[in-house]
Amino acid sequence: MNLDAILKKDDLTKEELVYLLDLKNTEDISKLHKRAYEIKLETIGNKVYYRGLIEFSNICVKNCNYCGIRRDNKSVERFHMTKEEILDTAKWIYENGYGSIALQSGERQDDEFTEFVEDIIKEIKKIGNLGITLSLGEQSYDTYKRWFDAGAHRYLLRIESSNEEIYNSLHPKDKLHDFNTRKQCLIDLRNIGYQVGTGVMIGLPGQTVEDLANDILFYKEMDIDMIGMGPYALHKDTPMGQGKEDSIEEIQDRVRYGLNMIAVTRIFLKDVNIAATTALQALDPLGREKGLKAGANILMPITTIGKHRAKYQLYDNKPCVEDTKEECKGCLAGRVKSVGDEIVYGEWGDSPHFYNK
Ligand code: 5AD
Ligand code: SF4
Repeated sequence: MNLDAILKKDDLTKEELVYLLDLKNTEDISKLHKRAYEIKLETIGNKVYYRGLIEFSNICVKNCNYCGIRRDNKSVERFHMTKEEILDTAKWIYENGYGSIALQSGERQDDEFTEFVEDIIKEIKKIGNLGITLSLGEQSYDTYKRWFDAGAHRYLLRIESSNEEIYNSLHPKDKLHDFNTRKQCLIDLRNIGYQVGTGVMIGLPGQTVEDLANDILFYKEMDIDMIGMGPYALHKDTPMGQGKEDSIEEIQDRVRYGLNMIAVTRIFLKDVNIAATTALQALDPLGREKGLKAGANILMPITTIGKHRAKYQLYDNKPCVEDTKEECKGCLAGRVKSVGDEIVYGEWGDSPHFYNK
């Protein structure tokens, strides 16, 4: 295959997606990322939008085999931020010009949780003109609808892997962890009117480059507006991470595929929002900058209050755990500037794809 010719094409076949994702030579990769960045400039500009991320609770009913806050991990101290703590943080996010907020937590489906979130959304709407993204896992249609009616308008729910077999291997085999339920949630969110985000983990055991190409085709088939994906990273207190250690080569591979996934997704889907995720930075100190250069346009600065940050570790070596939200603000601004991008303060930064349909 001829790289230059493929990069000039308007549409790509699955074989071409695989070819691009699998590029390993530095010069080829640099061409791929440059083309993705050009497309970002054409569709979005050199703009980066923030979602101030509040990880407000690590209590989770699920038991995903890869995740550090899974239900059965008894070595994690569980926490739940109070309404006041969340609203104070939301005020800080608003006053610091982050146009949007992202609320994330472990998964819970009880009424108390549903009402708590509904109330928080309504209170955040009173603070000012903030975009609201939720990342609160699988819920019933009615719960999603209640939160949408309360004022949330974007939802992130990663499919983790579009290959059902891999999905099953990452989760306990029970009704709580069902691939088709998860897929149905994405459909429900779309029908309710949310901007819908999904994503996958990259470098999972047994995952091939063809699987990754299928993940990108899945984004297209599901008409996804926002993508949040990143390399898989071990957590020592999980069934998948216990007693394991990655070699430098394995880590480098995951970062390379992670960045190639961002670039190829940008080239293939063009007008979606794509996040440069913290997991990229966990495996490569310059991971998030490289993500922006490969076509990402969204950053999610952590604003979780200091005393709880260390308790929200989905994987080991999570960056920014020791930092304050003020430090994260300055640090990220420097990172964005270093790649020649510009942070847009005070705007929601919705997915252009949502309006281009
Ligand atoms: N490595 C990378 N990403 C992870 N997530 C959870 N655990 C890990 C891990 N060990 C991601 C999942 C989940 C999101 C909230 O965090 O993709 O959807
Ligand atoms: Fe819970 Fe999400 Fe972790 Fe799964 S990935 S255990 S749902 S927090």
